[in-house]
Amino acid sequence: MPSRPDSGLHLAGTGVHLPARILTNQDLEKLVETSDEWIMTRTGIKERRIASEEETSTHMGVVAAKQALTNAKLKASDLDLILVATVTPDSFFPSTACRISAELGASGCPAFDLQAACSGFLYGLILADQFIRAGTTKNILLVGTERLSSVVDWRDRNTCVLFGDGAGAVVVRAEPGRRGLLAFDWGAEGSSGELLHLRNPQAAGKALSAPSPGSPDCIVMAGKEIFKQAVTAMADSARRTMEKAGVRLEDIRCVISHQANIRIIDALVEKLKFPREHCFVNVHRYGNMSAACIPVALHEAGAEMKLQPGDKVLLVAFGGGLTWASAILEW
Ligand code: ACO
Repeated sequence: MPSRPDSGLHLAGTGVHLPARILTNQDLEKLVETSDEWIMTRTGIKERRIASEEETSTHMGVVAAKQALTNAKLKASDLDLILVATVTPDSFFPSTACRISAELGASGCPAFDLQAACSGFLYGLILADQFIRAGTTKNILLVGTERLSSVVDWRDRNTCVLFGDGAGAVVVRAEPGRRGLLAFDWGAEGSSGELLHLRNPQAAGKALSAPSPGSPDCIVMAGKEIFKQAVTAMADSARRTMEKAGVRLEDIRCVISHQANIRIIDALVEKLKFPREHCFVNVHRYGNMSAACIPVALHEAGAEMKLQPGDKVLLVAFGGGLTWASAILEW
């Protein structure tokens, strides 16, 4: 049933799936020339989760989605839209959203993937907010799911220490009288995309020839440049969102930023002059899970930061594309 146009987005339930296998920095010391001390001081990451063969992006997304639906007290048949943010789909098509929909039994519900790398979940949340504001859509499942261990070069110490696998899901519901996202900002700078990329070699294959054998390429990154751009873009985006919402720093109860690196998070809160203790951090546990970072953080932050209804939460992300996004969510 369509929602009333004066309804706003309400975070009705969250869920996660984090693979049981833990890869510690000590484990990585056996794979590449690195050390726990280097990884901890440069990134703040202590360990990350690694998916088993069965834990595909679809599988992890389904587990997270089922938990989010249960917490929202909704059934798959109540959903009006399924959105999935991922850079590691199980297939180009069917989309991971359609695969998840099939596993949930959400027959007939529109479902599609969106891709904005580490900003993907926030791009999806902004889309969900727009659908709800339009009054056409009531219950939306939004999933961020990533199996980055499959696209990381495990011989490259520059990148392999940074990433992990996992999924997070939220169910958002239209609720009368809610203001939804108080404001948002999003953007992209495609001309800098080469700084962080993951190619599809088959896309560049010769016309009318057999596809090139082998697996897709691995993540390639200009770490220092990405670091600088991430801090600047996230701080600028967060400021624009606060200005649009008419919200001051002291009104924000919690900042949940993309979890790529503790030094990026520290530099961001310092630029924003935001109290560090109000900033949610779990990068030490999971590393960078791209589009899954923010939904997993949302799931954990509620309890860990003791968030209360009405609290204003600033969400901010940056990733490949290059892309960025921020939004203020009323808890
Ligand atoms: N262990 C030990 N040494 C290493 C490792 C490692 N895992 N990785 C790199 N090094 C070496 C380098 O080879 C270099 O050695 P050299 O001086 O002999 O050439 C040295 O350490 C210093 O390397 P730098 O690149 O200068 O290190 P930096 O301080 O920039 O830290 C890092 C590297 C952690 C990658 C940092 O640039 C960073 O965090 N960038 C952001 C990247 C990121 O988070 N990307 C995720 C996707 S984008 C996003 O999600 C925001």
